[in-house]
Amino acid sequence: MTLKKLIGALVGIGVLGALGYGVGVAIDLNQHYPDNTDVLSGKALSDKIARGEYVAIASDCVACHTSDSHKPFAGGYKIDTPFGPILSSNITADKETGIGNWSKGQFDAAVRHGKGSHGFLYPAMPYPAYSTLTDSDLDDLWAYMQTIAPVHNKVIENQLSFPYNQRWLLGGWNLLFFHGAPFTPTASLSAQLNRGAYLVNGPGHCAACHTAKNIFGGDVSNAMQGTTLQGWHAPDLTTNAHVGLGHWSEQDVVDYLHNGSNRFTVASGPMAEAVENSTQHMTPEDLAAIAAYLKTRPASTPSVPAALANDSATMHAGKLIYDTQCAACHLSSGAGVRNMIPTLAKNPQLNAADPASLLTVILNGSDGAVTTGNPTAARMPRFDWKLSDQQIAQVTTYIRNSWGNAAPEVKADKVAHARKAIAAQAH
Ligand code: HEC
Ligand code: HEC
Ligand code: HEC
Repeated sequence: MTLKKLIGALVGIGVLGALGYGVGVAIDLNQHYPDNTDVLSGKALSDKIARGEYVAIASDCVACHTSDSHKPFAGGYKIDTPFGPILSSNITADKETGIGNWSKGQFDAAVRHGKGSHGFLYPAMPYPAYSTLTDSDLDDLWAYMQTIAPVHNKVIENQLSFPYNQRWLLGGWNLLFFHGAPFTPTASLSAQLNRGAYLVNGPGHCAACHTAKNIFGGDVSNAMQGTTLQGWHAPDLTTNAHVGLGHWSEQDVVDYLHNGSNRFTVASGPMAEAVENSTQHMTPEDLAAIAAYLKTRPASTPSVPAALANDSATMHAGKLIYDTQCAACHLSSGAGVRNMIPTLAKNPQLNAADPASLLTVILNGSDGAVTTGNPTAARMPRFDWKLSDQQIAQVTTYIRNSWGNAAPEVKADKVAHARKAIAAQAH
């Protein structure tokens, strides 16, 4: 057989395989799901709905499914993925454009199995995490979702270009990266640690932002060791002392998730939103469980670089900028102001190899999380109009290599790149 014929045969087998697979998927998607919702009324029903609302809060469904704050859950919120934009679905109880006509089985298929009304869902909907939801949480969540006021809003979710717009390809993705099953507690762990593991890996879908993705958008094996999304670096959440939560006590984690700030830092960007919509509304017991679980995660082991020498020209120039532009708020010791202005000293975000968050905050300014626990968040001013790429590179390098911090030098072209990306996002 010549090489060309061989390739032809392989392509043929591939096409047949894909067709067969497509048929299998179609049958699977058209399964009949029985509507086995309990018939409850009165207090039993209102309690169930309240529990379901709590599951929705812990899962932060509203964050992605709302684009107009007056129409919660009506969808249309755009999520930029490396493959193009995907819009979130309308999940209000509207019968025509939402999920008002769905059965619980259909809802379960979408939330825990990644199969929606148009076929396989893109994992921009975090069903890999939600697949661990317990049956009772899923059941309560469904009871709550049916109470969401219907909003007529037609959304075209799939706005990707060929071949990424082919939903059946996600069948292959699922085979490779989706290993979902409802949460089962580990017998050797305490009830609190099991609850923490459940919240972090299930409803809280913390790994959706804090775990790096491979080129296909699947999770890498280094879980919760930090990654960068749309100009923000979601830090390492293991107990690594340099780039992770090694210096944070369990109470520091609880304070951060409850108030959006703690004695070290203030949540900004996507984490400020997660705190505002989700974690600040969680019970103290659940936040303690999350903190206890995170503090049991073994430290990641990236190599810690040596800090740049204080006497380099870059460090001198950076110090000058810091003393005149930043020290009034962050203090010359880098200590900041408790619960208001982040400590820059020994700050995991500053030590992260990727300076994305720092550049976004310095160029664009940032509002800290506004929560019931800390209603008057301070603002970090923007410096894009005031400092050149070179100056921002110098001051960022300086703060990343002072007061016990150590991280690679930031070059001016990196700042120029971040500046362009931020300007493009604003349009
Ligand atoms: C990180 C963003 C994000 C979060 C959080 C999120 N979703 Fe989604 N969801 C999406 C996106 C994007 C889609 C559309 C995906 C697609 O069409 O492939 C979607 C689709 C869905 C669908 C399928 C609708 C259909 O017509 O097929 C349902 C149901 C749904 N989400 C429910 C929920 C619930 C319930 C929660 C909370 C437990 C939730 N989502 C949390 C982003 C999110
Ligand atoms: C939508 C993306 C997203 C989700 C979901 C998310 N995070 Fe974050 N998280 C971030 C980003 C981005 C930061 C950095 C914020 C900053 O620099 O102020 C962050 C920061 C943090 C920090 C502070 C770390 C430090 O060193 O400063 C903690 C703790 C944290 N997240 C915990 C969690 C937990 C627990 C969950 C799940 C319940 C979670 N996050 C879910 C994006 C996310
Ligand atoms: C007017 C007071 C003020 C000044 C001046 C100021 N900052 Fe900030 N900075 C803040 C506040 C408040 C925050 C927290 C905002 C947030 O989290 O959204 C912050 C956040 C930061 C962060 C993020 C820290 C983290 O843990 O995520 C960095 C980095 C930072 N500032 C660096 C600088 C640099 C460099 C300068 C000077 C060029 C500067 N700041 C000047 C108030 C200030």
